[in-house]
Amino acid sequence: MSISTISWKNSCVRIIDQTKLPLRLEYIDCRNAQCVWDAIKELKVRGAPAIGIAGAFGVVLGIGEIKTNDYAEFKEGVDRVIDYLASSRPTAVNLFWALKRMQDVVYANYDMPVRGIRRLLFKEAEKILEEDKGICRKMADFGSRLIKNGDCLLTICNAGALATADYGTALGVFYRAKEKAKNFKVFACETRPLMQGSRLTAWELKKHSIDVTLIADNTAGLLAKEGKISKVFVGADRIAANGDTANKIGTFNLSLVSFYHKIPFYVVAPSSTFDLNLKSGKRIPIEHRKAKEVLELQSKKTTSPGIKVYNPAFDVTPHRYISGFVTEKGLIYPPFERNIRNALT
Ligand code: MRU
Repeated sequence: MSISTISWKNSCVRIIDQTKLPLRLEYIDCRNAQCVWDAIKELKVRGAPAIGIAGAFGVVLGIGEIKTNDYAEFKEGVDRVIDYLASSRPTAVNLFWALKRMQDVVYANYDMPVRGIRRLLFKEAEKILEEDKGICRKMADFGSRLIKNGDCLLTICNAGALATADYGTALGVFYRAKEKAKNFKVFACETRPLMQGSRLTAWELKKHSIDVTLIADNTAGLLAKEGKISKVFVGADRIAANGDTANKIGTFNLSLVSFYHKIPFYVVAPSSTFDLNLKSGKRIPIEHRKAKEVLELQSKKTTSPGIKVYNPAFDVTPHRYISGFVTEKGLIYPPFERNIRNALT
């Protein structure tokens, strides 16, 4: 992939500042955990897998500030850095999954000199990043088998290279299908309020010469009714054990439209996005963001003063509206509760 969303360069975490796209391709070099926290919070780096990778490298930067060789003190310091990074955004479970992997390294190596643990933590963060690349390719391979010549595909938000270390989840499926010379086109929802669809997905797909048409979010129902959508592919931020799926606000609407019109609806996500501790989607923590994001468009007010706002960043699609999951382990079909557990454990 020609897009390097997140990497480790010269002792810094280098990320594309996605708030500047598509007008400017700018990078930020984070030198401390606070910078990473801020980048996650402000959506400079975003998308579930990318947030996880950023969190892991955030720990690497955070331990640079823990000046001790005493294991107990070091462990306490790491726990503090992890809690801090975990407070950035609540919904994408990949962040907590990656932070737990980092924490496990510290806990498992209590008998090692702190200097050695520091090295292992860096290696673990690198491993999380490298693994994500392979996982993207596997999901793309499985998912691309679902795409037929002539398909018109619908997606929301950005589940592409900008949301991962490599190929993306839902968009990775499209990239692989294109490599296989399949002929299809994509409709991208603009994804109010922060426009990940129009700013990021449209940019990414065009850059990779995929036939993309942008639609306002409220156009999807009509498109489906007109028979212009053959399949829907979306990413995910957290998937409960029964298959209920949290993803960008508006995904639930698309699932209803798809269900009504009998359009297959696929969720593409790595196993790190599944949270088998949650029986259903009811307990998935949903992030609520600032009113300003709805009241303004590109820093210009779009409504009169004093208007109240309700701004959840994600919704939960009940599993019964989902046709299947595309994971790095293969495709998962209903009954989800049993098949998810079998595939992932
Ligand atoms: O608020 P965002 O932009 O981080 O939301 C991202 C999404 O909802 C994506 O669809 C999801 O993280 C999957 S990314 C491969």
